[in-house]
Amino acid sequence: MTVVDLIIKKRDKQIISEKEFDLFIKGILDKSIKDYQISAFLMAIYLNGLNDDETYYLTKAMTFNGEVLNYKDIDGPIIDKHSTGGIGDKVTLILAPLLASFNLKVAKMSGRGLGYTGGTVDKIESFGAKTVFPIKEYLEILKKNNIFIIAQSDKIAPSDKIIYAIRDTSGTVNNLSLMASSIMSKKLATNAERIYLDVKVGDGSFFNSLVDAKKFSKMCINIGKRFNKKVIVHLTNMNKPLGRCLGNLIEVKETINFLLGNFESTHLKEIIYEFASDILIDNKIANSKDQAYKMIDEKISSKDAYKKFKEWAKSQKSTYDFDNINDLYKTKYTDVIVAKEDGYIDFKSNKEFGLVLIDLKAGRKNKEEKLDFLSGIYLNKTFNEYVEKGKPIITIYSSLPITSDIISRLNNNIIYNKKKLKEEKNIIGVIE
Ligand code: URA
Repeated sequence: MTVVDLIIKKRDKQIISEKEFDLFIKGILDKSIKDYQISAFLMAIYLNGLNDDETYYLTKAMTFNGEVLNYKDIDGPIIDKHSTGGIGDKVTLILAPLLASFNLKVAKMSGRGLGYTGGTVDKIESFGAKTVFPIKEYLEILKKNNIFIIAQSDKIAPSDKIIYAIRDTSGTVNNLSLMASSIMSKKLATNAERIYLDVKVGDGSFFNSLVDAKKFSKMCINIGKRFNKKVIVHLTNMNKPLGRCLGNLIEVKETINFLLGNFESTHLKEIIYEFASDILIDNKIANSKDQAYKMIDEKISSKDAYKKFKEWAKSQKSTYDFDNINDLYKTKYTDVIVAKEDGYIDFKSNKEFGLVLIDLKAGRKNKEEKLDFLSGIYLNKTFNEYVEKGKPIITIYSSLPITSDIISRLNNNIIYNKKKLKEEKNIIGVIE
């Protein structure tokens, strides 16, 4: 069977076998299958779907046509956390060092920005850290600092690296099976004992419907079961930006301030504390939410979590001066959008922020595009906060001139309400 036969098979809504998925992934890796054929096959999957067995076989082929990490010399518990992606989602950068400061080992493979959502790998590269090392070094970094956060490479999850970049630029991102195989193949290749997924639901995420988010979560939990892995899903709200900083280095700045106890966003604080406390309880480090919250407070006020972040960043070869990030973060161009009237702020579309960030070069339009790591958005005011006419709502940062189109899109995205709106739940539910 040729790759063209395989594309036709899925185009005609037939079932792909385990062997055929394996051959497809091998063909991607030995470059006998070309990018245009990969994107045609992905589009056929996007349009016609995969059943549960096909999703499992695709995940299996993506995982095992690459190396799987082995932690035989490292004491656990080894955990992993992954988000389906959202606007302003810096949860991994905060949670990983926080959990590592409790001696949990966080072995995590992330991705770059995908669609209109940001990616942890881009955020890590924005402070000069590397995300690909020889396998031996990953294990040394984990052993020494309790964390690694790495990218797909030619060795680990190599086919996801290729498929991910093609999905991002071929309109094939938000298909449940493609997302599940992408995320779970990375998680299975890094091989942690417990996998915590943050499945984002809402306008700035890939799931607008809770029904799809739950279906996707169950898909990942079931794939985990077939590989003997425990997967625990938090469904979290993405109808509003997460925190005040949106972009790459600017989100690192918010991360550092959070780890130093300067919480600028109650939304972000609640997500981090809820997530971290559940993980501490699940790993028997805390007995109750109350106790876990106090323990987290302590790790932040003692700066242990911040020190862990710095040790980890250094171990992945960053030389960035995080102590001075608030002074160092500067861009050639800035612009401020001020309130046209008094009112409580809301935004028409959360996704619009992601699209504007792509135009600011904080995200990609094609897979070769170089990012402006400095560009970003700061929300002086966010959802349900009161603003007086003439006061700042949004500050834009960029290394390139900021166009009038960007300003007007951001301006048009603002709603001024006379009354506060009802707050939605930040954590929608937990499924395991
Ligand atoms: N994160 C991933 O790693 N893959 C996806 O497909 C979506 C989010």
